[in-house]
Amino acid sequence: MTSSSPSGTPVLLVGVDFGLPHFDGELEELGLLSETAGMNPVARLTCKRKAPDAALFVGSGKADEIRMLAQMHGAVEVLFDQALSPAQQRNLERHLELPVNDRTLLILEIFAQRARSHEGKLQVELAKLQYVSTRLVRRWSHLERQTGGIGARGGPGEKQIELDRRMISDAIQRTRERLVKVKRQRSTQRRQRERRDTFNISLVGYTNAGKSTLFNAMVKARAYAADQLFATLDTTTRQLYLGDAGRSVSLSDTVGFIRDLPHGLVDAFQATLQEAVDADLLLHVVDASNAGFPEQMAQVQKVLHEIGAADIPQLLVFNKLDSLSGEQRPPSLQDQYEVGGRMFPRLFVSARSGEGLPALRSALSSTVLAAQGGMTPDSAVELPGPAH
Ligand code: GTP
Repeated sequence: MTSSSPSGTPVLLVGVDFGLPHFDGELEELGLLSETAGMNPVARLTCKRKAPDAALFVGSGKADEIRMLAQMHGAVEVLFDQALSPAQQRNLERHLELPVNDRTLLILEIFAQRARSHEGKLQVELAKLQYVSTRLVRRWSHLERQTGGIGARGGPGEKQIELDRRMISDAIQRTRERLVKVKRQRSTQRRQRERRDTFNISLVGYTNAGKSTLFNAMVKARAYAADQLFATLDTTTRQLYLGDAGRSVSLSDTVGFIRDLPHGLVDAFQATLQEAVDADLLLHVVDASNAGFPEQMAQVQKVLHEIGAADIPQLLVFNKLDSLSGEQRPPSLQDQYEVGGRMFPRLFVSARSGEGLPALRSALSSTVLAAQGGMTPDSAVELPGPAH
């Protein structure tokens, strides 16, 4: 399914089922995340628990099982699908004698590898610094070992950690100030764009839904599309000409959404997602072939809410129609669909084969015309008029 990286670091994936609805029993998403970060998932293990163990996250028997499985498969690192507290991470590393990381760090790493724009890089740096600052205690134990565990108090380790802490808080402060400057420049650019009276459409959606593929199919650009998570990090914007409306609109591809986005990243990526917040219309792209699509849609709606974009008119674009089997295919390619108690217009398309794209274009044209106060063609999907 993905370009797996057999040469990457062999890792063992662990997921703990606490009975939450989005538990990924196959650890498919964690696998994809680890491959995107250049690792090679060699084994997977899941278990059930009522609540996390305060010290080890899993029970000590399960921790022993993890150690044995890692040895058996030659895994040199263990990745947890759930967020670990700094103490749990430290205790697990001691118990397993292997580096242990969680989904949060993995997402941060991928974002760090992918960020291209100055602003994107600053945002990721800030989120990483914030993450590291809560885990400094790990370095402390590492230094303790280096100095043979002598002088746990007042030893070189303690001085070092004080220094690290001060350096990190200085770096956080500096990065914040630089971000404020970059954001100010960006909002000036945005105001200029608003004055030009463009109609802005943003593609949003869960990671891997096919936003970049759809973007390319619509504007014939070449945004990077891959079966990897977060192939797109920085917003790309192109002009899209809508023949029926007789005018161009601007179409933006945005970063993919994902459940449990690290908190620092939700804040940090607010500016990247600002394109989405500024849009007149959101095209919410959904991977209709993924059985977990309702949960993925709920996650997207949640983030949209968090970034203040929940009230922007939305058109649901159910993508990957070509992957649906005969009986999965909907009787009609245009209808209304309920998400969280609200009804949204929905279109089925295949960005890959092009099926449904003419209907999508005509729905967009009619929305633009309606926003201009023109006539809405009968055949078009009725969208709530954007506040224009
Ligand atoms: P992020 O950058 O992670 O947010 O992903 P994205 O939503 O931009 O997805 P992208 O366009 O990179 O596509 C993800 C995968 O889905 C790629 O392997 C695409 O080839 C595949 N894909 C996209 N559209 C379709 C489609 O209509 N049908 C099928 N079968 N596959 C598709």
